Amino acid sequence: MLNYKSNWSKNNIYFLLIVISMLALITACGGDSNESNTSNQNQTMKTDPSGLSDWELENGFGPVKKKLNLGPIDKTMAAEGEKIFESKCATCHKLDERYTGPAQRNVLQRVTPEFFMNTVLNPDENLEKHPHSKEMLAQYMTKMTNQNVNLKDARALLEYFRVLDEELKNQNKSN
Ligand code: HEC
Repeated sequence: MLNYKSNWSKNNIYFLLIVISMLALITACGGDSNESNTSNQNQTMKTDPSGLSDWELENGFGPVKKKLNLGPIDKTMAAEGEKIFESKCATCHKLDERYTGPAQRNVLQRVTPEFFMNTVLNPDENLEKHPHSKEMLAQYMTKMTNQNVNLKDARALLEYFRVLDEELKNQNKSN
């Protein structure tokens, strides 16, 4: 009788232990899946599927790491930029037709000024990492090579394209 009693209470304890550990498991699993849900949400909020930050997506990779403070167009700088374009870029780019590379007149309608400069200064890294450059590479089947342009010359090139962009916008207005 005594023996039976003690067996019964042992069984009861086992049963209780099982119930407790099952409850613990259920709450642990519930907690886990909630956690992974929220961390997934955080990820989609922070980064795009390509894994690039908003800044990188908009402005590419290169020495230009913050928004440029563009004042009114500097005509002298733009004229300098036009010369550089003729000597270093026109071998591959025309203004209005597809050539080795894309037509460039309306480039600032495709990319930001910062992306423009970063591509000119650092084409290789952008070709490796940036979806726009990769897409262009797939279309043109040629890699833009580094033209050893310095920061000042890249800025002058940008000024030239700002002039062309302004002209395009004025044409659109009068049409
Ligand atoms: C060897 C040929 C070559 C030269 C020289 C060259 N490019 Fe390119 N460029 C390309 C090709 C091809 C692409 C498209 C694929 C890529 O990004 O590499 C391109 C892409 C670009 C882009 C990407 C943005 C877009 O949507 O058009 C810009 C901006 C650009 N070039 C500007 C320039 C400027 C400015 C110069 C002169 C400093 C220059 N390139 C010199 C071949 C060239």
